[in-house]
Amino acid sequence: MSDLSLTLCSLTGILAIALIIFLFKRKQQRLNLPPGKMGWPFLGETIGYLKPHSAITVGEFMEKHIARNGKIYKSKLFGEPAIVSADAGLNRFILQNEGKLFECSYPRSIGGILGKWSMLVLVGDMHRDMRIISLNFLSHPRLRTHLLKDVEKHTLLVLSSWKENCIFSAQDEAKKFTFNFMANHIMSMDPGNVETEQLKEEYVTFMKGVVSAPINLPGFAYGKALKSRSTILKFIEGKMEERIKKVTEGNESLEEDDLLNRVCKHSNLSTEQILDLILSLLFAGHETSSVAIALAIYFLPGCPRAIEQLREEHSEIARAKKQAGEVELTWDDYKRMEFTHCVVNETLRLGNVVRFLHRKAIKDVRYKGYDIPCGWKVLPVIAAVHLDPSLFDQPQHFNPWRWLQNSSSNRGGSSAGCPSTSTSTASMGNNFMPFGGGPRLCAGSELAKMEMAVFIHHLVLNYHWELADTDEPFAYPFVDFPKGLPIRIQRRRFT
Ligand code: HEM
Repeated sequence: MSDLSLTLCSLTGILAIALIIFLFKRKQQRLNLPPGKMGWPFLGETIGYLKPHSAITVGEFMEKHIARNGKIYKSKLFGEPAIVSADAGLNRFILQNEGKLFECSYPRSIGGILGKWSMLVLVGDMHRDMRIISLNFLSHPRLRTHLLKDVEKHTLLVLSSWKENCIFSAQDEAKKFTFNFMANHIMSMDPGNVETEQLKEEYVTFMKGVVSAPINLPGFAYGKALKSRSTILKFIEGKMEERIKKVTEGNESLEEDDLLNRVCKHSNLSTEQILDLILSLLFAGHETSSVAIALAIYFLPGCPRAIEQLREEHSEIARAKKQAGEVELTWDDYKRMEFTHCVVNETLRLGNVVRFLHRKAIKDVRYKGYDIPCGWKVLPVIAAVHLDPSLFDQPQHFNPWRWLQNSSSNRGGSSAGCPSTSTSTASMGNNFMPFGGGPRLCAGSELAKMEMAVFIHHLVLNYHWELADTDEPFAYPFVDFPKGLPIRIQRRRFT
């Protein structure tokens, strides 16, 4: 090619790029984008957005941005132009239009660590298939017949190991409980045995990477986590091979009615897909519920009247069981835990285990006069709605009574630290989305609530507890207690 044609080619290329940028800018100028700044090139405002803050607040960044721009604003986050929503209506709209106007879109680093077949990153038909498997595994009948009994067994196992007057991390204990439970239900692993403990250790390293900056270099948490990921996957694969061998040899044990067995026998998933599904369920089912339980242990001592009311409720249940000669909790007992359900809701509302979700617009969308361009990142911030004073009275206060229906809504509300409420339970329910919503609503929401309620049942009946050091939940954005939530307990005699 001659010099002239080379120059012409380069010029045409430059002109084409300039034209695309020009048309893009013109389109953006014509759009009515929400207010807000895009911040630094590439990084945008990501550092400010992710700055750790107390989990019971929205953080300084959100506060300032909402004050300046309103509840819907634009920014540049995670390397992309983004619309941030602290607006309850828009959040619902986004989640309900999954697959039509918006689509789940987590940062690539999450896919890198959880796997490309993880439910959190899948969309479309593959997501639907994986979701059906998870929902069947966590179905209502299974909750009643299998999971309740085992949730109670694993709760008691952890609580009975607690020593009086020793200081220990409540967060670690909650993690032990949810990990043992999930590992048992997913792969029939027994708590305390060598391989369960090894897997747990590997999993801790893995988790540190999930919540760290995605820098895959030696010495960095993310790099170490990727190594742990492959160790964990090898382990699960080993378990899979054992199962397949048992089935082919006809030695299958009926006791192993676990997720691994189900997916090996009843699905067309490839080995790689099964491994990512198992790992992502272990992650989804263990990290979130353990934080929720730790949050309840943290909030309750600040509201003694709530502990008192919980004790009344659970003592009544325990007394009736004793009279009937029953030992294990039944589904009816669980359904009778009315006030406990309010405590569970309030813990999830104030603690905000999952603070925001990652979506992108797959079409140009118009909402309340604002344009959300196709391809932009969209972040529904659930925490901002749960802590919005126009939707929840005194949102920073732990007030379980706000969830009691109508007439009884203020029962106990006058006690110290527990304000009364006037917002209706129905309107609160509409704005309450700790488990997300729409077609991607958390598959384990019912299990998570049951785990919390059963843990609270045995905790309030058997122990007095106090925080042994100042600690508070922080949003990193994953909620965590910097000191592990140290507590001291005393056994109490059940009357
Ligand atoms: C308090 C505890 C929990 C909270 C706050 C929570 C929250 C959430 C949220 C907000 C989502 C939606 C993510 C999104 O739309 O991008 C989700 C999805 C999911 N959660 Fe949970 N979760 C909890 C416990 C559990 C448990 C115990 C399991 C059981 C294994 C579980 C399994 C899942 C699964 C499989 C999904 C993906 C659903 C889908 O994509 O269709 N979660 N969770």
